[in-house]
Amino acid sequence: SQLNIAVVVGSLRKDSFNKKLASALAKLAPSEVVFKSLRIDDLPLYNQDDDAHQADTVQRLKSDIGAAQGLLFVTPEYNRSIPGVLKNAIDHASRPYGKNAWAGKPAGVIGASVGAIGTALAQQHLRNVLAYLDVPTLGQPEAFIHAKEGLFDADGSIGPASREFLQSWMDKYVAWVKKFA
Ligand code: FNR
Repeated sequence: SQLNIAVVVGSLRKDSFNKKLASALAKLAPSEVVFKSLRIDDLPLYNQDDDAHQADTVQRLKSDIGAAQGLLFVTPEYNRSIPGVLKNAIDHASRPYGKNAWAGKPAGVIGASVGAIGTALAQQHLRNVLAYLDVPTLGQPEAFIHAKEGLFDADGSIGPASREFLQSWMDKYVAWVKKFA
């Protein structure tokens, strides 16, 4: 049966490496796995005063998460942490208190950066947040992707240098999500 994955990309940039990575990863999954990107660029800045009347865009985010059996976070590292736009989306869908949409959804965490340590610190921060939100997150293999020439093929697939590793990452991720389905 179909497995729906909600993808959260932590970059809004048009030519984002992480957007490209999310698309390329989707091609490595079996056909029953369907990836849908969550829209986070039109969310208001989180304000606790609005918890009782969440914006339509926030309600949409929460219902899209609710429709998914798994989560895939693909994020750059900003100043050794996760981008504010990603934290904003995470905070929105975690509220109001007791109505955390993320809870119990199995997740994978991955990211690409132009820096040499390839999002390791951002991913570590994200894992901490997800642990608090009761999101069981795939521990191994870790994947810190260095965004450089040749990461992607001309058609947007993962290039030969990283293909085998990311294929095995995707196989383990899908097996992880299925454990909870
Ligand atoms: C960065 N970048 C960056 N890279 C990194 O490896 N560690 C870091 O702490 C940071 N910090 C950082 C802060 C801010 C505000 C920006 C805009 C950028 C560089 C980052 O890896 C690069 O811009 C990527 O291209 C961002 O990912 P997308 O947008 O291509 O997906």
